Amino acid sequence: MSAVPTFATVPSSPQEPLPVVAVGAGAMGRAWLATLSDSPEVALVGIVDLDLDAARRAATGLGRPDLPVGSDAVALAEGTGARAVIDVTVPAAHHPVTTAALFAGLPVLGEKPVADTLARALSLAAAAETTGQLFMVSQSRRWNPQLAALKGMADDLGDIGAVTTEFFKAPRFGGFRDEMAHPLLVDMAIHAFDSARYLLGAEPVAAYCETWNPPWSWYAGDASASVLFEMEGGARYGYHGSWCAPGAETSWNGSWRVSGARGTARWDGDDEPVMDADVPPTDRPRSPHEGIAGALGVFCAALRTGEPPMGEVHENTMSLAMVEAAVESAATGRRVLVDDVLARAHERAVAEETHPQVREVLRSWSSVRSALAGTAHRGPGGPAAGG
Ligand SMILES: NC(=O)c1ccc[n+]([C@@H]2O[C@H](COP(=O)([O-])OP(=O)(O)OC[C@H]3O[C@@H](n4cnc5c(N)ncnc54)[C@H](O)[C@@H]3O)[C@@H](O)[C@H]2O)c1
Repeated sequence: MSAVPTFATVPSSPQEPLPVVAVGAGAMGRAWLATLSDSPEVALVGIVDLDLDAARRAATGLGRPDLPVGSDAVALAEGTGARAVIDVTVPAAHHPVTTAALFAGLPVLGEKPVADTLARALSLAAAAETTGQLFMVSQSRRWNPQLAALKGMADDLGDIGAVTTEFFKAPRFGGFRDEMAHPLLVDMAIHAFDSARYLLGAEPVAAYCETWNPPWSWYAGDASASVLFEMEGGARYGYHGSWCAPGAETSWNGSWRVSGARGTARWDGDDEPVMDADVPPTDRPRSPHEGIAGALGVFCAALRTGEPPMGEVHENTMSLAMVEAAVESAATGRRVLVDDVLARAHERAVAEETHPQVREVLRSWSSVRSALAGTAHRGPGGPAAGG
């Protein structure tokens, strides 16, 4: 989607798979470990977790109890010869773990969200530019052949007026989600927002959001949200969801409608999308990429070819900007401009940045939107012009 700065390539082949360490041996980390073990494109050479017992248990669970473990990704990568890092830590650790890896010359494939705040996401984009290393975010729900087919149908429909997602489920997670102020918006809706950007091929302009917590909710924060985004080009994207909505639940991808000049496409999130239009859907090859294995394959191909992948940090950060815009609108009761959210995050990123080179890159961005789109004119360390 964007022309991002170039990054260093790393050769790999089926004969010489890419050696990687995985960081974070929690629930999602274990799913990643299974995927890494199954992939012919990578060789898992170590597991990192602050909790060394968790790392050892994960190694044993893979049937590889002798796999090296450690509590520091860069140190274990140096000790094992790893040439890339898979970051599956908690969101608050994404910024420190990924920054350290990039500065050690290691490209990173990291779990969503890119970081726990938009300001730290901008810092990571600037760190990728500073180091010339690839940082790709695995936004796993974007790697879905049915979503790719829906995108093809959206392209067939001509101008798009509206895209909507309904997401109604009733999971009882226990743990951190039950305590978050905005569990649905911050932990889950980012997947749908990211998919909407992909479907429309357009970035967000503004958000209006209301959140609330139904009386029967088992969440401390607001488990229900309705958001209306204005997207570039004028289409509207509406998201309506709840995490405490028992009965007639939607799929985990949500239920989608794309309304265009020539007709409508719908997707229930589980089955193939369908189109009701005055043109038949164009015959397109099915996307070969699915879930986290799909993201891993795309990451390895990008490292081989130098071709920027979907999910590259600059491109992915706009999905987090949609989340922060929605949260801010819910808090203020006002329609929020995404450019204002980006400008405030940029100011905070410059103020918080501890690495002089990264701060210099951040300050060289004359516009955050164009820096994320890869179209910014960068002065050599010139002062930030805001925006
Ligand atoms: N794509 C999806 O569908 C999906 C689903 C679930 C979780 N996730 C994402 O995956 C990530 C991990 O989630 P989880 O549910 O596995 O969390 P978790 O709490 O189960 O596990 C996280 C692990 O990271 C370790 N850790 C924390 N800080 C660390 C650091 N600085 N260095 C090394 N290890 C560290 C913790 O000790 C823990 O073992 C999150 O970003 C989450 O949003 C994505």
